[in-house]
Amino acid sequence: MKVRKAIIPAAGLGTRFLPATKALAKEMLPIVDKPTIQFIVEEAKASGIEDILIITGKNKRSIEDHFDSVPELEQNLSEKHKTELLKVVQSTTDLGVNLYYSRQAHPNGLGDAVLQAKSFIADEPFIVMLGDDLMSDKVPLTKQLIDDYEKTHSSTIAVMRVPDKDVSKYGIIDPEQEQVPGLYNVKNFVEKPDVADAPSNLAIIGRYLLTPEIFDLLESQEPGAGNEIQLTDAIDRMNKTQRVFAHEFKGDRFDVGNKFGYVKTNIDYGLVHPEVKDELETYILDLAEKIQKKNKK
Ligand code: UTP
Repeated sequence: MKVRKAIIPAAGLGTRFLPATKALAKEMLPIVDKPTIQFIVEEAKASGIEDILIITGKNKRSIEDHFDSVPELEQNLSEKHKTELLKVVQSTTDLGVNLYYSRQAHPNGLGDAVLQAKSFIADEPFIVMLGDDLMSDKVPLTKQLIDDYEKTHSSTIAVMRVPDKDVSKYGIIDPEQEQVPGLYNVKNFVEKPDVADAPSNLAIIGRYLLTPEIFDLLESQEPGAGNEIQLTDAIDRMNKTQRVFAHEFKGDRFDVGNKFGYVKTNIDYGLVHPEVKDELETYILDLAEKIQKKNKK
């Protein structure tokens, strides 16, 4: 069956960005000039996804507004012949994918957010894309997972090697032999293990291809780490009854869900943004010199 649908869970509280996220959706924080969630929607579209359900919550209205038209603004830009800006604004509504919205009443965890999509997905394989994880590669990571599915017809979770000091922040896999290069059979999926108990440093990152059997498991899933319904725990149970593969991503990942990752991503994206790259590069070089001088004193 063709993979046509994706879910973007965006109902979390974004506590790592307080106070910015008190009234603003974390997924709307811009990378230079584009909200992170727009990058995610564009990756879905580039991977052949047709229908996207965004799971929202309180204080997330700005996500729906962002992908809606603003006739007054468009008219103003048109009258002032700001054609390029008009195109930029229109690109947020002419996405070439269908967007749907549903609310998660309580932020009970990623597993609970995904469960809200049960009737939208029905009995099809689908993609989950986290709104705070940007991926960059020649072939979009979502498309890489879909290509795997077309060969294996199995759930496949994207993973990436992380430094030992970071393993306790992630779901970690206990890998078996590689099936083909970069595609692992998995013994266990463990949510946020201590580094001493971690079976590997292959961490689950923000893209999942799942078969619909996950929903029955999520419905009976007990709260796990952080007292939240963890998607990783349901995936681990599913792996006991049907194969779940792990796909090692070798491209670039930008974790914009924490302060340092967010600032760093703005610099990386700024360095390739046509409007700011030259000034930013000069600024960074000057700054580096100043920092070096200061540290020598
Ligand atoms: P995170 O744990 O990174 O996001 O969840 P968070 O909870 O918003 O952030 P912090 O930890 O408090 O700073 C990963 C993704 O899952 C969504 C989030 O919106 C984020 O995109 N999520 C998380 C939900 O949709 N619902 C939840 O109950 C939890």
